[in-house]
Amino acid sequence: MAIPAPGATSTSWTGRDLLGLQGLSAGDLRTILRRARDYDRIDPADPITRVLVGRTVATLFFEDSTRTRTSFSLAARRLGASVADLTAIASSVNKGETLMDTALAIQAMGVDAMVIRARQNGAAAMIAGAVSCPVVNAGDGRHEHPTQGLLDTYQFAAAHRRLDSFDLSGLTMVIVGDLGASRVARSGIVAMTALGARVYCVGPVTMVPRSLETLGCQVRHSLDEVLGEADAVMVLRIQFERQDAGKGSEGGQPQQGRLDPRARTPGISSVREYREFYSVTPERASRMKAGAVVMHPGPINRGIELDSEVADGPRSAIMRQVSTGVAVRMGVLSLCMGA
Ligand code: NCD
Repeated sequence: MAIPAPGATSTSWTGRDLLGLQGLSAGDLRTILRRARDYDRIDPADPITRVLVGRTVATLFFEDSTRTRTSFSLAARRLGASVADLTAIASSVNKGETLMDTALAIQAMGVDAMVIRARQNGAAAMIAGAVSCPVVNAGDGRHEHPTQGLLDTYQFAAAHRRLDSFDLSGLTMVIVGDLGASRVARSGIVAMTALGARVYCVGPVTMVPRSLETLGCQVRHSLDEVLGEADAVMVLRIQFERQDAGKGSEGGQPQQGRLDPRARTPGISSVREYREFYSVTPERASRMKAGAVVMHPGPINRGIELDSEVADGPRSAIMRQVSTGVAVRMGVLSLCMGA
């Protein structure tokens, strides 16, 4: 089974599966975002939200996740669905065959939709081609993370009072960090540019490949040069686990919370140097426009790509991203499941 390369264009949205945002029209994106806005504005306890009573959503996570899985589960439950949560340790999964076997077995138990996260690019699309229920991609390798891209787009629009039109023209988003490895960035770039925003992708040459420009953004290597233009800065963490890190002090994978600023990491010469040029510090935040916000999809490596004073400060839209995520996933599940 051929796996689409990162950046490959998906087919346009049929409304059954949500596998990626590439190929979706501005109209498709607005349909989903408007539905999300409706759920965002309704009291979650209002029985009107319970459009999936009697239906079951399975979440199949073959890769670590806390917030995305919880967010999908809460979304499905708020819609009245039953949820079967399945997690599998990625290392125990034997690539496509096992993913497919698992998905087919889950289908045979009678579920009405599947939410899939996997390490392989194209895994959700592969499963969607084999099962008869709707499939939602919750992140496939370095390829796409469509619901995260949608919720980031929603929050960007919300921060600038564009929730009526979801027209982002005249606004500039700066995405800074490890973009080459980021499925969040890929989904965000295509959605935000489709809705009219200008998107700068910023980071060291080793982390921000020029080829990203095929998605509609502009690649830059100096954060300070574009900071003053930003209406939002979305900060991404260094994805140590997706960098093919070597072992030992020259390329080891730092553990969350125990990052050594002197450590050498793949793609950059040191974390200290990365901080100097790309970290969103209080000083950099003070140079942003009035009204500009700071976003982060999480998990944050505090003190590396983003300082706590900014993450927890007045410009931060990070917690609002998390809450909006549930409404966005309610919108996606209800549309895909025809409710
Ligand atoms: C992202 C992911 O898993 O791709 N996180 C998320 O979904 N909240 C980004 C990341 O892992 O850095």
